[in-house]
Amino acid sequence: MAENRLAIRAVNKTFHVDGSALIALSDIDLDIAPGSFVTIVGASGCGKSTLLRIIAGLDAGEGEVLHGGQPVAGPSLDRGLVFQEPRLFPWLTVEQNVALGLENAPLDAAAKRRTVGSHLALVGLSAFAKALPRQLSGGMAQRVAIARGLVNRPSVLLLDEPFGALDALTRAHLQDELQRIWAHERITTVLVTHDVDEAVLLGDRVVVMAPRPGRIAHIFDIDLPRLRDRRSEELVRLRNVVLDALETVSGNSLAQEAVEPADRWRSLPIGDAALPA
Ligand SMILES: Nc1ncnc2c1ncn2[C@@H]1O[C@H](COP(=O)(O)OP(=O)(O)O)[C@@H](O)[C@H]1O
Ligand SMILES: [Mg+2]
Repeated sequence: MAENRLAIRAVNKTFHVDGSALIALSDIDLDIAPGSFVTIVGASGCGKSTLLRIIAGLDAGEGEVLHGGQPVAGPSLDRGLVFQEPRLFPWLTVEQNVALGLENAPLDAAAKRRTVGSHLALVGLSAFAKALPRQLSGGMAQRVAIARGLVNRPSVLLLDEPFGALDALTRAHLQDELQRIWAHERITTVLVTHDVDEAVLLGDRVVVMAPRPGRIAHIFDIDLPRLRDRRSEELVRLRNVVLDALETVSGNSLAQEAVEPADRWRSLPIGDAALPA
């Protein structure tokens, strides 16, 4: 499966805004093995989306990205994309939205219908094939976006904070779904998130990015069986290790942003708050 390997070689990216230069990415080198699940975690603004866009071919920087040994020169159907917002067309049904991912595929109409149907089944939405996006919950809409990202059977799936806009319960449910889909399809997956829990729950490898300039600070291998239990002691221990690393490289204010609000409340010294000084 060497043809699926992603190799990111000496990637740099500078944005020029109002005459000043902002180094978004500095010397990024990363190898992503075929069939692996890599998560990239970092504080907001550290360059995660920029890196994912460069891997996708939506943007370019210095250096190169190789996909199966070939330089990435633009977007490709072989790299499926899922963003934070589902980006569905409101006037198209669920199955029509998924079929958009097949627009240029060399399949006849019947084969397209079958492929769309099997991918709706994969994300558990067969019953909603004829529904319109406004009839879906946020979690269901995001499942449609995942089906559309997978429908071409790309060799790589790229996800940019795909569950960031969902409530905690729906997010947990979709994280489990994604683990199940990944175990089923064994598709090379790169997921960007600011959520340490998510990064450690989902990744075989967790890449921790540091901000200003955006760079890779640490890589952790997470060798735990799937489906992973978010409450397991080992997972919580690893999560704390990664959180420590992220906080150290992000600086205090940014680390706070990268932590779930719930964690922030838990860390408040509530018992001391009412005591006189
Ligand atoms: N198109 C752009 N033009 C100028 N600056 C940008 C652009 N895209 C991103 N940036 C800047 O690059 C840095 C990294 O952004 P981004 O990759 O979106 O970070 P993240 O996804 O980690 O939050 C930020 O400082 C952001 O403001
Ligand atoms: Mg981003």
